[in-house]
Amino acid sequence: MKEKLEEISENLNNLKINSKEELENFRLKYLSRKGILNDLFEEFKQVPNELKKDLGKLMNVVKTNVQIKFDEATEKFKKNKKTNLEDKIDFTLPADGTENGSRHPLNIIENKIVSIFNKLGFTIAEGPEIENDWHNFSALNFPLNHPARDMQDTFFIYEDIALRTHTSSVQVRLMQKKNPPLRAIMPGRVYRNEAISARANCFFHQIEGIYIDEKVSFADLKQTLYAFVKEMFGDDVEVRFRPSYFPFTEPSAEMDISCQICKGNGCNVCKHSGWVEILGCGLIDPNVLKNCGIDTEKYSGFAFGMGIERITMLKYDVKDLRTFFINDSRFLKQFSSI
Ligand code: PHE
Repeated sequence: MKEKLEEISENLNNLKINSKEELENFRLKYLSRKGILNDLFEEFKQVPNELKKDLGKLMNVVKTNVQIKFDEATEKFKKNKKTNLEDKIDFTLPADGTENGSRHPLNIIENKIVSIFNKLGFTIAEGPEIENDWHNFSALNFPLNHPARDMQDTFFIYEDIALRTHTSSVQVRLMQKKNPPLRAIMPGRVYRNEAISARANCFFHQIEGIYIDEKVSFADLKQTLYAFVKEMFGDDVEVRFRPSYFPFTEPSAEMDISCQICKGNGCNVCKHSGWVEILGCGLIDPNVLKNCGIDTEKYSGFAFGMGIERITMLKYDVKDLRTFFINDSRFLKQFSSI
């Protein structure tokens, strides 16, 4: 029996358990009811008493070694469970790039317009989106019950409080607050009660501007706007002014540029005319200056206003204005590199 125990010890030393199956086989072979250890203890009962002491010690060593071997292997395969999982992750692979956010196209164009006018010496003015009738209409020479108020379908909140229909209301606030010379632009969101379509929305964004000083003329207005469109659309853009009407400017005009999509050849965007209107402008009506406390003997000024959506559509060839507001990331992603 001694040889048997020594042989088992020897085997145990050389044994390597490499898998869960081998571990299970080991358990069956050594530790189960019909396993080697049990057999040994049965056999031990027959051993003469005088040999029991030495053999017993040896038996205990074998038994402990079997148990240690078993425990170690069990632990190892528990750990391996995790290791296997980790094996599935290849830490040497380059990480997935996190997606970069991008500026909204309207924001890109607004920033561009603002920076062009900044270079021309215009500062930025802002005002509230909820306005009273006086700032949005009356001060701007829209008499009460005048049909011109219908030009801009208004969302009223109370009787004389409304969502501003244009950022001209900010011009009024600025003229009241500061003395000329004044040179500022007013970017902001405006609201009109219009049916939503590819060309109109119930809210949109404007940038308006004013310049008030001594002897400001229509020529100054034209040169300023020329400089703006050349910076915005490039040197070969063509410009034309058409007479128009706004209650707050006199004379008034609308400015068209050569269609940037068909380059003047005619397409759906310019309705085959080769021209697209991009802004309204004019010399500020003296009534407006008076309403805001500006001396009309000394000062004159010009004003202009444009829709940021319109400029963005022309710049990026966007056919439907609604795409700006539905937050479809497939559309927005296209501007991530700009
Ligand atoms: N406020 C006008 C509009 O919203 C634009 C405009 C501004 C026209 C200044 C002339 C002068 O349509």
